[in-house]
Amino acid sequence: MDGNGRWAKQRHMPRTVGHAKGAAGVRDLVKACADQGVRYLTLFAFSTENWGRPSDEVSTLMGLFIQYLEKEMKAMQAEGVRLNVLGDISAFPAELQQRIEATQNATVHNHTITLNVAANYGGRWDIVNAVQRWSAANPGVSAENMTEPDLAQHLSTAGMLDVDLLIRTGGESRISNFLLWQVAYAELYFTDVLWPDFDTLQLQQAFTWFASRERRFGTVAP
Ligand code: FPP
Repeated sequence: MDGNGRWAKQRHMPRTVGHAKGAAGVRDLVKACADQGVRYLTLFAFSTENWGRPSDEVSTLMGLFIQYLEKEMKAMQAEGVRLNVLGDISAFPAELQQRIEATQNATVHNHTITLNVAANYGGRWDIVNAVQRWSAANPGVSAENMTEPDLAQHLSTAGMLDVDLLIRTGGESRISNFLLWQVAYAELYFTDVLWPDFDTLQLQQAFTWFASRERRFGTVAP
């Protein structure tokens, strides 16, 4: 969800206003994804590197996350949205941790779409964590015996599909430590549109582009 800070700066407003505007657009995008049959939508809300931002910005982001969960609970239930947070939430304020747990528990049986929110998440962290969890689950077994499916089953996205389409807003052409393992064969869509301006029309354009891609998964076209 890149570009919130620049969106605000262009309007001579504090960066946090951009984050609030960015959060406000999420509901419509989740609904549009669900309507189009997307099974998993993962939003990168807070990376392991984002702790390096000014403390008032970090606390605003935590506050927006809490507000989002409070405000959206009803709509998530009505629309069959399951919330799932990817990342180590133990570093978050207790109120946010409790709100996350409560929302995850309350929406666990919703099946229309899973909304993954990556928070205190890093792709490298996910892989190291998966290796450690595999190792703990297989005491005394050499890592030589670990297969790709074994590792995938210990990632934070265990049981989910790999990423088909990765959208990066805000004009940068990089992955920035997002779902590194899971994007192995993803189609990468980079757009200059700043996240607060990324609406359902923009989403549709990304889907149309995705539909035009020939996906070969390392093989040749039939
Ligand atoms: C990147 O823009 C955005 C973030 C680091 C935060 C995104 C988080 C929210 C919108 C909080 C709400 C969370 C949910 C789940 C709704 P940037 O600040 O890097 O923008 P810039 O590159 O223009 O400075």
